[in-house]
Amino acid sequence: MKIFIDTANVEEVRQAYELGVLSGITTNPSLIAKEGRDIFETIKEMVSIVGDLPISAEVISLNADEMVEQGKKLVEIGPGIVVKVPMCEEGLKATRRFSELGIKTNVTLIFSSTQALLAARAGATYVSPFIGRLDDINMIGMNLIEEVSSIFKTHQIETEIISASVRHSAHVIEAALVGAHIATMPYKVIQSMIKHPLTDAGIAKFSEDWEKANLGTF
Ligand code: E4P
Repeated sequence: MKIFIDTANVEEVRQAYELGVLSGITTNPSLIAKEGRDIFETIKEMVSIVGDLPISAEVISLNADEMVEQGKKLVEIGPGIVVKVPMCEEGLKATRRFSELGIKTNVTLIFSSTQALLAARAGATYVSPFIGRLDDINMIGMNLIEEVSSIFKTHQIETEIISASVRHSAHVIEAALVGAHIATMPYKVIQSMIKHPLTDAGIAKFSEDWEKANLGTF
């Protein structure tokens, strides 16, 4: 399973990319708004860091024709741009048009398997089921990933599943186990995946023992 970062903060992208584990980026209008910067400038800076890795940038219109126009502008920013389209009737029409134009799409705000199947049949490159937001309303978000994964496998659907709205490292592992192709997560979740108290204790002990032995510089 591949790791994407879910952020509109360019510094976080830079730091995650330097770790050498990143396969892509997702953004959304709320994340862009939080940073308070121009979307085109933001995505351009991300491209300068990650090159042709996939970067999902979302359209704002809720009309298919306008979505296509906005998406065409977004893909001009760089080679890896994926147009993020909200799941709705107009979004499906736009996804089909993007697919015919050879433009990659990520259909977002997926909360049911029916939505995922329709998005895939409209030609989506990726679908993004939101785990955390389902957990928030007392549903088991991971069940959706498992169901979509099983349907796509049974019917040889090539659309990739991005496990989205990931809140903690256990979500990442569960998503990997049930067959998500990708998990997109905040930088703090990536950082939390690195840490283990036994690793920290082990590093401290190795340093301490080395110092005590007084064997000189390495
Ligand atoms: C995914 O593409 C979305 O940007 C994101 O995962 C939403 O996460 P949230 O539910 O934490 O806002």
